Amino acid sequence: MATDSLFFELYHNLPRQGPGDNDFTRKAFSLLKDLPPSINLLDVGCGSGMQTLQLAKLINGHITAIDFHEPFLHQLRTDAEKEGLSGSITVLNKSMFEMDFPDENFDVIWSEGAIYIYGFRKALADWKSMLKPGGYLVCSHISWLNDNPPEELKSYWENEYPEITGIEGNVRIIRDEGYTPVDHFVLPDESWWKNYYNPLRQRLNLLSQKYRTAGVFNKLIESSKQEMYMFNRYSAFYGYVFFIMKR
Ligand SMILES: C[S@@+](CC[C@H](N)C(=O)[O-])C[C@H]1O[C@@H](n2cnc3c(N)ncnc32)[C@H](O)[C@@H]1O
Repeated sequence: MATDSLFFELYHNLPRQGPGDNDFTRKAFSLLKDLPPSINLLDVGCGSGMQTLQLAKLINGHITAIDFHEPFLHQLRTDAEKEGLSGSITVLNKSMFEMDFPDENFDVIWSEGAIYIYGFRKALADWKSMLKPGGYLVCSHISWLNDNPPEELKSYWENEYPEITGIEGNVRIIRDEGYTPVDHFVLPDESWWKNYYNPLRQRLNLLSQKYRTAGVFNKLIESSKQEMYMFNRYSAFYGYVFFIMKR
């Protein structure tokens, strides 16, 4: 079985595919001021869409939610239908590298835990033209929270995401790319465990039984366990930060 399909089996039916929770989606949204009465919002890398559904409950307007993994999108479509929200969400199977939306189309671009895939600086540069003037880009993004991380953690991130920088560094990138930084806040540890690591751990235990002899799955288990070990040990040094910026 290919690593990719094992990866998606691991993440299938989890509440979310990355750290976050509805309280903090709401908090970030509350920081957007002077929005038009009807909002056109793009959610990039929506996954199964916990934040998409929350946003749909907050806004008057329309959400386009994109991801390239169909089972996540299927879950979002099903949940949107159940919650009576499907009329306000368009779910698209589309890569974030192939977005072809018109210029000045969106009042808000939202991306929780997915902007690193495109690259923070590059996303800010490339996605800006899709925002209306005065529109907002909101994302949660991995950042150092402390200037002196231990060696073990530094080498872990050098391997995983070498572009990781501190909050000030990210705010500098926001300014460099011509946005006005509006606000930022750190996602608390609890939001990593509740909807993400705890359900992931349960699923790892379940699949460990199923793939007891599969070497490739053992590698996946090891890398997920290492990720949780790092966070458990070093969450004072890094975390997800919500950045809110205005075009
Ligand atoms: C860490 S998850 C975050 C999902 C969701 N926003 C959340 O916070 O739970 C990253 C998401 O990006 C999606 N993704 C990865 N590469 C992508 C690409 N090239 N285009 C669109 N989505 C992509 C994955 O399928 C996954 O759903």
